[in-house]
Amino acid sequence: MSSIAAVFMIFAACASQKQTAVRHEFPEAMIAPVKAQYLVHWEKGKVIYGITCAKCHNIKVGRKEIIPDFTEAQLAGYNLRQGNARHEDALSESVVSAEDLALIYVFLTYKNKTGIPVKHSEDDSNSTH
Ligand code: HEC
Repeated sequence: MSSIAAVFMIFAACASQKQTAVRHEFPEAMIAPVKAQYLVHWEKGKVIYGITCAKCHNIKVGRKEIIPDFTEAQLAGYNLRQGNARHEDALSESVVSAEDLALIYVFLTYKNKTGIPVKHSEDDSNSTH
């Protein structure tokens, strides 16, 4: 086997390992046609989250990459939080539309809980606030 093929196989193995299984969890009370509709949004939101948010928000635990649990309050305050410095550049309207954000919202609200909270940048430093 050529070394290039070997490198590719290692890369492929890492890439597949990185993929953490994320499932949707809809409320029991949600009726089937609504669930079906939400599932379409959820799948789209999952992809857009992966492209626009994962690089900053996914948390590496060992070799796995985990999507943290965004609380309802965090998601509700989210539009306002676009004012935060890290988001302003990363999430301008040209990067992610309001429609995309709505899909991401559905994805994050109805994904299975991982038990890992959203990490704050300040958690790494000694800064007090
Ligand atoms: C460039 C990196 C970056 C990208 C891209 C990014 N975020 Fe953030 N986000 C941050 C940082 C850093 C914070 C924490 C700010 C803080 O500590 O107050 C944050 C905070 C948040 C919060 C608020 C958490 C809280 O405590 O209230 C939410 C919700 C959020 N991000 C969602 C998203 C979503 C959804 C996307 C994709 C559309 C996204 N972020 C993309 C860096 C990023």
